[in-house]
Amino acid sequence: MKYTSQRGTRDILPDEAGIWQSIEKTVRRTFELFNYKEIRTPIFESTELFARSIGSSTDIVSKEMYTFPDRKGRSLTLRPEETAPVVRAAIEHNLILKDNILKLFYLGPMFRYERPQAGRQRQFHQAGVEAFGSVDPLLDVEVILLAEQLFDRLGLKGLEIDVNSVGCQKCRPEFTTKLKEYFKSNIGKMCEDCKQRLETNPLRILDCKEAVCQKYIEKAPSTRESLCPECRIHFEKVEEGLKQAGIKYRVNNRLVRGLDYYTRTTFEVVSRQLGAQNAVCGGGRYDTLVEALGGSSTPAIGFAIGLERLMEIIRSENRYPISEKGITLYIATLGDEARKISFDLLTKVRKAGVAADMDYAGRSLKAQMKAADRARARHTLIIGENEIKNGLYVLKDMKTASQIEISPEELINKLPAL
Ligand code: HAM
Repeated sequence: MKYTSQRGTRDILPDEAGIWQSIEKTVRRTFELFNYKEIRTPIFESTELFARSIGSSTDIVSKEMYTFPDRKGRSLTLRPEETAPVVRAAIEHNLILKDNILKLFYLGPMFRYERPQAGRQRQFHQAGVEAFGSVDPLLDVEVILLAEQLFDRLGLKGLEIDVNSVGCQKCRPEFTTKLKEYFKSNIGKMCEDCKQRLETNPLRILDCKEAVCQKYIEKAPSTRESLCPECRIHFEKVEEGLKQAGIKYRVNNRLVRGLDYYTRTTFEVVSRQLGAQNAVCGGGRYDTLVEALGGSSTPAIGFAIGLERLMEIIRSENRYPISEKGITLYIATLGDEARKISFDLLTKVRKAGVAADMDYAGRSLKAQMKAADRARARHTLIIGENEIKNGLYVLKDMKTASQIEISPEELINKLPAL
C-alpha cells in the first residue's frame, strides 16, 4: 500500500518552503505597517458558526464544507474561511471596544471540498485582515490600499482591482426582487445552479461563470441603480478616496462575492495570469455580522488573499528562484575519534548561532564533500587522524576551494566572520 497526499492537497517541499517563508514575512511586515495585530484561531469551529455567517444557501456552506460529528455528536467544521472565526474570537474575548478600531490579521490553512483544478485546492492558505469599529469610507480605502501595497511590495504587476457595492439590508431586498423579476422569464435556459439560486439567493446569479448564463447576466439590472441614498453616498466616497490615493480600480457591478455577510463595498484583486480562478484576493464590508453572531452592533471590513494563487503568479513571472538558503559549516570526519570531536564542535558552533551539520553515516570523504555541496555549505571542516594529532583541522571555502589550517579555538573565534 502506497500512501499519497489527498486530492486537492499539496505538500510544500523544503525547496519551496523558503519562498513561502519569504512571502509570509513580507505579508506580516505589510500588515504590521498598517497597525494590524496577528490573531490565530483553531482550525475547526462549530458548524453553526459558518452556516450563520457565510449563509446556508451559499456554495461554501451547502456543498463545500468539511463537516463531521465529534465523539460527543457535536457538529464541527474545518474552517472554510477566517472571517467568521475572527468575529467569534473578537466577541468571545471582548476585543471590540466602544470608540476603538480593532485591526487583526491572520495567515493559515483553510478547507473547502471543491473540485480541484488550477488555482483551486481543498486545503489552501489565506492571509487576511479584518478591521472592526468604523463605517468611515476611508477605512474601505485603507483596506484596499493595503492589499494594493502588499502586491506592490511583492513586486507583482498587472493586477486589477474590481470594486462594487452590494447595498445594505435596507436596499438589497428591493434589488433582489428586481433581479428575480428580470431572470424569471429566461431561467429555463440557464444552468441548474442558477435555477436553484433564483429561489435561494438571486444575487449570486450575477456571479455565475457558466457560458449559457452570460448573455442573460450581461443585461441584468445592476446593483448600483438600486442603492439607497446612504449606500450610494458611501460608495461615492470610497471612489473619491480611491482616486485620491491614486489607486487604479474598475467598478464591476456584477461583483457580488460568494459569501452572504457582505454589505456595501465588495472588492476583488484579479490577475490575468491566472486561469478561470483569477481572483487572488477578495473582501468587503460586513456591517451586520458582528451583531448577527451575538456581539454589539459593529461595522467591519476585511479581505483575504489566496496564497497558492499568489504563488502561482510569482512562479509564472519567474520572480523567485529556488531557495538558495544553505548552512555555514559542514564537518566532514574520518574515523570514530574524529566523529566524537566533530559532534562536540558542532554543538559549540550551533550554540554560537551558526547553522552547521555533520555526517552520521560514516561515509567516505568524497561522499561527505558531496553532502556538504547538497547542504549548500559555505565552508567544510575536515577532521581526520592527522588533523587530530596536529590539533589543526582543514577549513575549506566551498566557493573558492581554498583551504587553511585552523585550530578548534581559532574556528570558534572566527565563526561570526564565516
Ligand atoms: P473568498 O473570496 O472566499 O473570501 O476567498 C479569498 C481568496 O481565497 C480568493 O480570492 C482565493 O484567492 C482564495 N481561495 C478561495 N478558495 C480557494 C480554493 N479552493 N483554493 C485556492 N484558493 C482559494 C473569503 O474567504 C473572505 N473570508 C474574505 C474576507 C475577509 N472578506 C472579508 N474579510
